[in-house]
Amino acid sequence: MLKHETIEKNVGWLIVLTIVAISFGGLVEIVPLFFQKSTTVESELVAKGLVKPYDPVRLSGRDVYIREGCYNCHSQMIRPFRAETERYGHYSVAGEFVYDHPFQWGSKRTGPDLARVGGRYSDLWHRTHLINPRDVVPESNMPAYAFLDRPIKDASAIEDKMRALRAVGVPYTDEEIAGAKKALEGVTEIDALIAYLQGMGTALKQTR
Ligand code: HEC
Repeated sequence: MLKHETIEKNVGWLIVLTIVAISFGGLVEIVPLFFQKSTTVESELVAKGLVKPYDPVRLSGRDVYIREGCYNCHSQMIRPFRAETERYGHYSVAGEFVYDHPFQWGSKRTGPDLARVGGRYSDLWHRTHLINPRDVVPESNMPAYAFLDRPIKDASAIEDKMRALRAVGVPYTDEEIAGAKKALEGVTEIDALIAYLQGMGTALKQTR
């Protein structure tokens, strides 16, 4: 019989049995996820076509968001707590992010959460705010992004980006990819960013 004292005094046993204990604990938590409806069945948002892959303009806006590090001050994840849902709206659900690679949930909130900012303000409000936040929110410490009023920098890479996303499961068709460059003609970075912001969190609103 293996005594507890023997295990505590013998590094070999301690390592082996610790690994067994952790593996068992891990399996108990992970294995059921492969059989639960909520984690294996396609989200109703996707099934109903409410959450769609980003079109080329929004996808470019999302890339500007990532490049400029907006996620350093803004999260995109509303937690299921009253203080959050009263302020931002319905809490975030997994199905809303199926085409986000990588997701932008974040946890740093110097500014407000943006998960449901879509439709909250007009395009003109966003433009004014991005060019100089102090023009609409005098006490704001958000940086000014006036320089984004320029053509999209790497517009020619859009087809490759969509193909890369397709490789990880985003269902872009060949026609969508072929028409992507044209869709970006004359679009500025600030336009694309605003289109991205205006789409944020809107799919779920249509179901409730
Ligand atoms: C240094 C931190 C910081 C960075 C970086 C930052 N923001 Fe903000 N943002 C704020 C703060 C603080 C506010 C609240 C005051 C205001 O509305 O300007 C805010 C507000 C906003 C709002 C209005 C949200 C609402 O519900 O009223 C939007 C939209 C927004 N930011 C978008 C962006 C985008 C897009 C970027 C990147 C291009 C960005 N922010 C980068 C700090 C930041």
